[in-house]
Amino acid sequence: GMTCAKALQLTLAVIKPDAVAHPLILEALHQKIVENFIIIRKKDLTWRRGDSERFYAEHAGRFFYQRLVEFMSSGPMRAYIIAREDAITHWRGMMGPTKVFRARYTSPDSLRGQYGLTDTRNTTHGSDSIESARREIAFFFPEFLADTWMKMEEPGF
Ligand code: PPS
Repeated sequence: GMTCAKALQLTLAVIKPDAVAHPLILEALHQKIVENFIIIRKKDLTWRRGDSERFYAEHAGRFFYQRLVEFMSSGPMRAYIIAREDAITHWRGMMGPTKVFRARYTSPDSLRGQYGLTDTRNTTHGSDSIESARREIAFFFPEFLADTWMKMEEPGF
């Protein structure tokens, strides 16, 4: 078949409960995703506290863990599997820094710079590596079979 010069990479993008709660912000973030990526899957969901604890297990014990876990299970969020060249880096660049002060001062045009409220209520999440993208996509989209994933990584997909 035809060979694609640029490899598509997958990542997980999440619109967090603070942003989903505001329809205009949700729509603005959705449009940014549509303009920059191919959307492979999209779903709206609400976590139970246990889901939140498992997802953020690597942060257990840090001072912000309880508030992070509480917040992420406080209301609906929207998750996407998105694709493009360098998707992981591109989405993290669009989000801007985790900390809202850094985001506002160093990246005012980033999503967190524009819409972030606090270090916890910071609008979006994105996987930070290929390994975490795999884990996090499987966490949010268990039905997105490893099979599909493997095919997309084959040269010439
Ligand atoms: S760090 O500081 O580099 O470990 O931060 P990071 O790995 O990017 O992400 C930490 C996640 O915890 C959320 N969170 C906070 N981080 C830092 N400081 C405070 N006070 C804090 N409160 C919450 C932060 O939003 C990151 O969430 P995700 O969903 O991973 O972006």
